[in-house]
Amino acid sequence: MQIHQLLKEGKEFLGSRETASLDAEVLLAYVIGEDREYLISHVEEEVDVADAALFEKYLKQIDRGKPMAYILGEKEFYGLNFFVDERVLVPRPETEHVVEKALDYLCANDRAGRRFRVLDVGTGSGCIPISIAYGFSEAGGEIGQIDAVDVSETALEVARVNVSQYGLEEMIHVYQSDLLENIEEGEGFDLIVANLPYIGEESGIVSPGVKKYEPQAALFGGSDGLELYKKMFQQLRDKGVGFEMMIGEFGFGQRKELEGLLSKYFDQEWSVEKDHAGIDRIFVIS
Ligand SMILES: C[S@@+](CC[C@H](N)C(=O)[O-])C[C@H]1O[C@@H](n2cnc3c(N)ncnc32)[C@H](O)[C@@H]1O
Repeated sequence: MQIHQLLKEGKEFLGSRETASLDAEVLLAYVIGEDREYLISHVEEEVDVADAALFEKYLKQIDRGKPMAYILGEKEFYGLNFFVDERVLVPRPETEHVVEKALDYLCANDRAGRRFRVLDVGTGSGCIPISIAYGFSEAGGEIGQIDAVDVSETALEVARVNVSQYGLEEMIHVYQSDLLENIEEGEGFDLIVANLPYIGEESGIVSPGVKKYEPQAALFGGSDGLELYKKMFQQLRDKGVGFEMMIGEFGFGQRKELEGLLSKYFDQEWSVEKDHAGIDRIFVIS
């Protein structure tokens, strides 16, 4: 079949999706190893049978809700490309706000010779620490060490691939920890960042595709969604782990509950900020 025929077939198959046309083009381009511009300028080119069959297989997976990033094996985040597969959550654009806020803090507090110590809890693909390291180095700064921890060993395998892809093994230490369990008592960090799972188990707001394909351990944060944050705040207190700034991501409708927790656990100042879509998204303790 020719490129234009396959694209037509793909768009029709995915017809109910808002992004049907774009998805079909991205998939076909991926299958034949070219970019989307190539498709447009080679509409009459024949696609071989094996590639056409693979294209159809992927169309079916997308239709069942599989994230495109898992098929392509990558996702762009903060202008960088990250390897992803079913072992990790697909990085979301709203999480870039955590990175931006972290970079604001690092840049504002950068002094000659200062080496920052950063902790990322629930690192998944490693997109947050790698983006922070990359962004800060672009701004002329230097981080001393970032500890990137996750409870999931399989997620950490993916984080290590990404850390190594960006040549950051010396700076970013990736290791297993149930929240702060493997952090030394009395340890001090300049900055702690976290995008812990925050979906309430009974909220029913997860789309079937996300629920089916993305790791459960990356999605749900107990009945109200804030269980893991609660547990981490308690661990900070119990272990005497210090920080100058903490930035965490949370979900739609959780502001009130979260503010209650922040007042209960912290004497420092804290605030809540909206993401680019105007939704309350991150808390900042400083
Ligand atoms: C919402 S995902 C975020 C992943 C990544 N930081 C990002 O922003 O794309 C949450 C991550 O927290 C990890 N996680 C879940 N429970 C945890 C725990 N008790 N301790 C440490 N990490 C945990 C999950 O494995 C998952 O990788």
